[in-house]
Amino acid sequence: MVVINSIKEMRQIAAAYKSTGGKIAVVPTMGFLHQGHLSLINKAKEEADFVITSLFVNPRQFAPNEDYDKYPRNMGSDSELAAAAGSDCLFNPNALEMYAIGNTTKVAVEGITAKFEGAKRPGHFDGVATVVAKLFNATLPDIAVFGQKDYQQILVVKRLIEDLNYDIELIVAPTLRQADGLAMSSRNKYLSDTDRQSSSLLFLALEDARKAIAAGMMQRKVINAVMHKRLRQAASIKIDYACAALANSLHEPDIFLPGDDIVLLIAAYLGKTRLIDNALTTIPKGKSPLAAL
Ligand code: PAF
Repeated sequence: MVVINSIKEMRQIAAAYKSTGGKIAVVPTMGFLHQGHLSLINKAKEEADFVITSLFVNPRQFAPNEDYDKYPRNMGSDSELAAAAGSDCLFNPNALEMYAIGNTTKVAVEGITAKFEGAKRPGHFDGVATVVAKLFNATLPDIAVFGQKDYQQILVVKRLIEDLNYDIELIVAPTLRQADGLAMSSRNKYLSDTDRQSSSLLFLALEDARKAIAAGMMQRKVINAVMHKRLRQAASIKIDYACAALANSLHEPDIFLPGDDIVLLIAAYLGKTRLIDNALTTIPKGKSPLAAL
């Protein structure tokens, strides 16, 4: 696996590869790779001939009070894991390479970013959209593979690809979970033993809501309350949000309708660690919304 640090060199290699007719896939990551990332690389390898894993902890998507400095890093093991998973290239620029002194441009995706993570972490999605656009420009991919775990980020990247006319196919890979349901995340390493035990409540809350919906629940606030109830089982969990919304738009009608695709979104603090998770489901057809009133 070749390791590239410069944008210019990355683009030259990608352009040369493209000229042979090969398909390029990029897997954007912030490193500290775990099984979840490796499944994205595996997926990319299935779909493309040349897989570029980018490894860049993007300062622009962290607010000053967040964990940019503390964010776990391990370049040595990342490089070994990415190569073993089938990555052909590791793109590992430093912050000055990505954001040269004097740069003032940012990419801002509006609308879909107004709520949930966008509201709780102002500026976060501008940072994500800016770096993703720069990564696309450097790696010239035909395919980009992202994980479903960052659900709202997927919607942002989808919008970005469409609005900036990138000719890139977005592939969304499922969230990988530990045996008790906890979604794999680099931040799980911060959890104390007690918080690690409580952390499975996020998954259980999603499951409760999913079952309630399957049983005919359509009122948004009642679905949200089901998730809150489960999360409140651990006094140490501080709920940031636990909400059901329409999966494509993130709109929150009072009552969902049969056939609506729904996303259940949770963000919660366990101690100082903020975790997010989500699940997709559909309001069953054949049930009347009036029955939910
Ligand atoms: O999901 C992430 O790890 C990051 O937000 C991304 C897409 C690599 C951009 O920095």
